[in-house]
Formats: sequence, C-alpha cells, structure tokens
Amino acid sequence: MTRFGHERAGAPLSVEIQAHAAAFRARFGPDGALRLFFAPGRVNLMGAHLDYNGGPVMPTAIDRGTFIALRPRADRRLRLASSSEERVLELALSDLPSERSGLWADYPLGVAIELLRARHGNESITGIDLFFGGNLPVGAGLSSSASICVGTAFALNAAWSLGLGRMDEVRAALAAERGFVGVQCGIMDPYAVGLARPGHVLWLDCKDATSAHLPFDFEHLRLAVIDSGVRRELAEGAFNLRVAECRAAFERLAPHEPGARCLRDVRYATFEAHRAELAPSESRRAEHVLREVSRTFAARDALAEGRPESMGRLMSEAHASLRDLFEVSCPELDAILEAASGVEGVLGGRLTGAGFGGCAVVLLESGAEEALERRVVERFSRRFGRAPRVDFFAGDHGPRELELGSD
Ligand code: GLA
Repeated sequence: MTRFGHERAGAPLSVEIQAHAAAFRARFGPDGALRLFFAPGRVNLMGAHLDYNGGPVMPTAIDRGTFIALRPRADRRLRLASSSEERVLELALSDLPSERSGLWADYPLGVAIELLRARHGNESITGIDLFFGGNLPVGAGLSSSASICVGTAFALNAAWSLGLGRMDEVRAALAAERGFVGVQCGIMDPYAVGLARPGHVLWLDCKDATSAHLPFDFEHLRLAVIDSGVRRELAEGAFNLRVAECRAAFERLAPHEPGARCLRDVRYATFEAHRAELAPSESRRAEHVLREVSRTFAARDALAEGRPESMGRLMSEAHASLRDLFEVSCPELDAILEAASGVEGVLGGRLTGAGFGGCAVVLLESGAEEALERRVVERFSRRFGRAPRVDFFAGDHGPRELELGSD
C-alpha cells in the first residue's frame, strides 16, 4: 500500500524531485541552474458535474501532482518535453501555433500562449526549456490537466517575472484548457489546484466563483482514492456531450424560471412541472444536477456541524445518481463502492472527476484503512482479475517552487 500525506510511505518528494531534475539534464543537457515546481492534483468530494451548471463543489488538493523543471535560454525558443515520451517539441516564441495538435503539449503550450497574449510587446521574454513529469495518473479523475496547466502558469509567471497573482494563473489555466485544448470544462479544477490549502476542502460556488476554505478533520477522517484502472479514450467527447445535454435542459426550462442564469437556478418544482418538455436523457441529467446541488449544501452543513457520517451518506447518494441519472459510472467503479460500503468505519463514497472510469473517493474513519483496502482488493480482484490501486490522502498546498533537496 502506498500512503501519502501524513502517512506518506512512498518515495519522498525530494527523491522524486532529484530524479526529475536528473531527467531534465539528460534530455536538455547538463549545464545551468534549474528551477523546479510542483502543482497538486485534486479529488472532488461533492458537487459532481455542477461546476459547468453554476452549482457548488467541494474539492481538495492531494499531494500527488505535476513536476515542472525549467531553465531559461539565451534565445527566444521554447522547448517542451515530458518524462512519458522521447520527443522534444521545439517552437519559436514569436511563432507559436494557433491550432492544437492533439498531443499532451497542448496543455502547457496553451498556457504559454495565454500568458503571452495578456502581455503586450513580449520581446523581452526569453526562451525556456520545460520538462514535465509527475506522479498523478492521467485520465483518472484527479485532474492531471488542471495540475499541468496551473503548474505551468505558476512556473512561467515565476520564470518570466510576469508579476501575476494566483487568480491570474488560475484564469490562464482555465482559458488554455477551454480555448486551445478545447475541453468545455467548468471552473472547478484550476480553482481546486490553485487555491488549495492543507487541512481544508475548498467550497467553491461556481455561479459567482466565490470560495471559502472549510476545515476538514484529517486527524479522525481519511480519504481513500481507489483507481478502477479504467481509462476511456472517448472521455472528452462524452464529457462535452454531458455539458451539451445540461445546456439543452437549461434552455428548455429557462422560460419557466424567470431570471435563471444556469441550470442550478431552476427550482426543483419548476423542473418537475416541465420535465415532460425535455428529452429523456436531458431530464435525467437535470434531475441529477438539481438534487446534487441540494446534497452539496447539505454536505457542507454536515462537515461544519461535525457529522461526517451524514457527509458519507450524501457521497453515496451522489454516486447512485451519477450511475443511474447522469450515467457516467462503470461496473468497476460500482464494484469498488459496493465493496467499500460493507466495511466498518467507511462512511460513504462516490466516483470522482468526470467519471467514465477513473477513481472513486471513499470517506472513512481513521483506523479503517486496512480493512477497506483488503476488502476492495479482494472483491475487485475476484471479479476483474486484477487489483485496483488504493491510496490514502491528506490535503495539500497549492502550486509551489521547490528547492532541490527539499521536501
Ligand atoms: C471534469 C471537469 C470538471 C468537472 C468534473 C465533473 O473533471 O474537468 O470541470 O466538470 O469533470 O464534476
């Protein structure tokens, strides 16, 4: 079992950082001082598929994420490489592409383009070599994309002395993902990564982007993240389809709800009175969204009032809704959550992120970790012939620069 956060038992961050720096030098040459950065991933506890419907969400950062090593260049060339492939992408800062390539490098490139666009007369900006890596599984619902985008904005802001604030970095990351990369994502992920605070979950109301940090009792509670191992090639297309279905539902309901600006603003009674006007799939999506909004407010109250078992129950109800109404679960995730629910000390759980595979998040009392892992691994392996990965997380800071040799 690999434990992170307060119980970290894997390679310490300093060891991983040293390895990342060595890999940078192997790829780009040994000379010159490097700077190293880390940006976390996130796990969302409540508010599934609400961000792009203007609802509230409750994510927390995790201490796995993206490593970025960089070294300024004397010329105006930008070179991008990653630990997961040999290819180095080389471009002139004065001639960055206007169209995405479909490759991983679109994410950091999109951010660089955003940052340079916001800056008039960028001739003083120097070239840079950037090397990306990390310990966050890609496509697992832990927001590797926001981690790479916010991390890139943070690192380039530092390297180019742009003087941007954290919200500018978050906005650049979001604009890159929506624009250059082309995913119609909501605001949750870059906010969750950018505004993270250890020992807290973020309360983010996506209608007006107001946020608060809610204390989370990491002393008595644990978050398990269990990876189904399922990755869907078409997840981005399926995600965009959910966004479109929710928008269609809103457009049909909006005339009945004067003043409504997003699906979250539609009252449940209005939806019930007019659901026959929606296509059946739109009706299921809207029902999930409106009930999930209520559940997420209830989860915030449960957390504030020290009722974690209520929060766990709401998480499990959210999963049932994601499975039956929003239709973004899969048999592997359902099996993980079914197995987890029978363990003493487990309070509840649900899929996290967009779904279509990826990870489940389980809320448990501390002390129940081993029983949870044993039962989930045993049941899942019996049914699917392989073991899922189980990690336990505490919250994490937002993006930061790391000293070589520090933890
Ligand atoms: C993905 C998106 C987020 C959010 C979640 C679902 O992770 O990137 O913006 O919509 O799905 O809650």
